[in-house]
This record gives sequence, C-alpha cells and structure tokens, in this order.
Amino acid sequence: MTVNSGPGRYALFGHPVSHSWSPFIHGLFAKQFDHVVDYKLRDVEPGNFRHAVINFFVEGGGGANVTLPHKPAAAEIVNDLSARAERARAVNTIVRRSATELYGENTDGVGLVTDLTRNLGVSLTGSRLLILGAGGATRGVLAPLLEQEPREIRIANRTPERAMRLRDEFSDLGEVSASGFSEIDDRPWDIVINATAASLAGEVPELPPRVVGHDTVCYDMAYGRGDTAFMRWATERGSTRACKGWGMLVEQAAEAYLLWHGVRPATKSAMTALERL
Ligand code: ATR
Repeated sequence: MTVNSGPGRYALFGHPVSHSWSPFIHGLFAKQFDHVVDYKLRDVEPGNFRHAVINFFVEGGGGANVTLPHKPAAAEIVNDLSARAERARAVNTIVRRSATELYGENTDGVGLVTDLTRNLGVSLTGSRLLILGAGGATRGVLAPLLEQEPREIRIANRTPERAMRLRDEFSDLGEVSASGFSEIDDRPWDIVINATAASLAGEVPELPPRVVGHDTVCYDMAYGRGDTAFMRWATERGSTRACKGWGMLVEQAAEAYLLWHGVRPATKSAMTALERL
C-alpha cells in the first residue's frame, strides 16, 4: 500500500463534527514524530459529502477520517476497500493513493479490540460476548471481534430483526446469535459492549437483571466527560470493570495515523491527556 509521509493536510468529515477530539489526538501523535500535520474538522451535509471529499483529495489532501453519518457513503466513494471495510460497508479512514485513487479502511473494530486486549487486558478468545445494538456501530466492529475467536457473540437489539440480519451476514466468521433484549440469557456474560445510540440520550436498554456480574467487562462505545449512563448502570449491577470508549477512539486514530504516515504512535500519553481534559 502507498503510504503518505511527512507534512500534509488531513481532515475529519462528519455532520455534526464540532465535538470531535480527533484534531487534538492527531496533533499529539504528530508531536511524537516531529511531523507537521494539518488536521481539520469539515462539517459537511450528506448531500455535499461526495463532492467535498473528492475536492479535498484533488486539492492535495493527504488522508481523511470519516464519522457519522458519512461512513457508509465513504465506502461508496473510494476505489478500493479493505476486507474489513467491505464487511462493515463503512469506511472511517480514507488513504490517498493518488489524487484519483482512494483506498477505504475501517479502523473502528481494530481500535476496539486493541483497547480491550492491550489497554484493558481483556481476553476475547473463548469469551461469551454480548453486543447491544445492531446499527452501524455494531456492524463496524463485528469482523475484528470475531477474528479474536470468542466462544459466542450474541447481538441483542430493540428491533430483533436487525440483529438477525447482522447474524446472518457475519455467522460465517464465528458463533453469532441474535435476539431482542428480553431473550438474552439471564446469567453474567464475560463482556457486554454497548453499541446502541441509547447512551446519547442518557438511556440504557432494558436488560434482564443478571446479565452483568462482578467480573463482567462492560464497555460503552460512547464516551464523554465522566461516567456514561451505561457505565453507571453496570456499576450499580455489580460490575467492577465498566469502561467507556476513549481508548477505542484513540486506538482507531492510531491505526489511521499508521495508514497515512507509516508509523504507529504510542497511545498511552494521548489517553492520559484526554482523561485530564
Ligand atoms: P449507529 O450507526 O450509531 O449504530 P444506527 O444505525 O441508527 O446508528 O443504530 C442505532 C442503534 O441504537 C440501533 O441498534 C438502535 O436500535 P433499533 O435498531 O431498534 O432502532 C439502538 N437504539 C437507539 N436508541 C435506543 C434506545 N433508546 N434503546 C435501545 N436501543 C436504542
């Protein structure tokens, strides 16, 4: 793969996007290598997305990140997709091969797996893993999670049919089952990942009472200042290991940095800096 090194213009396309920490994170990464990286936020409405991205690269853009709601559209724009991005049908990182040759990758799942395994010391192999939600967030991480060979992944969703569709799409990669929330086995799971949009409204899906135990790792893909509603919910149910998605955010950014610049930044200091903020 072609790798861009040295100075360059980078951008995060989203709508809305002003809340993003990505310029801060990429700025910290760039300092580690004395790179000069210009990373800006681009708030673009869905109708203008394609035009904006193509213009950005024609004008010399080095690489782009893509966030909601544009990840599926980005997968349609690029000329070539990684196997993971193809499975996810979503791209969060665009790599420039030339002004007209764009490569799409999805680093969300690797970011989540790296945070769980390397930063939090959680073993996914052989685990029983419950994912709440069956939208784009879940689709984006399923393949990298299944690569870790968990014993079982249950996808549970408010609308069970969406979970079942994802199960059918990913069951060739491992043991995947699907249900509504009330049909989840009511005994502690090893890992519960919240990938619903409920946390954006400060809500937590209604789950059977015993899905979380003392040792259950409860991971909220959402993040923000302080504990999320899901973290508080998990702690109240006895989990001693409730975490939010800061680490996933930083690790997916490090993977993007590697794709663009050919070097992977250390992530610990960026995480500490974010916690301090
Ligand atoms: P994303 O790309 O962020 O995953 P999405 O495709 O709109 O966004 O999916 C949002 C997910 O959050 C879905 O699983 C949705 O459940 P439905 O498929 O039943 O809509 C889930 N969700 C959103 N609000 C929720 C709530 N209040 N309680 C439970 N699940 C919720």
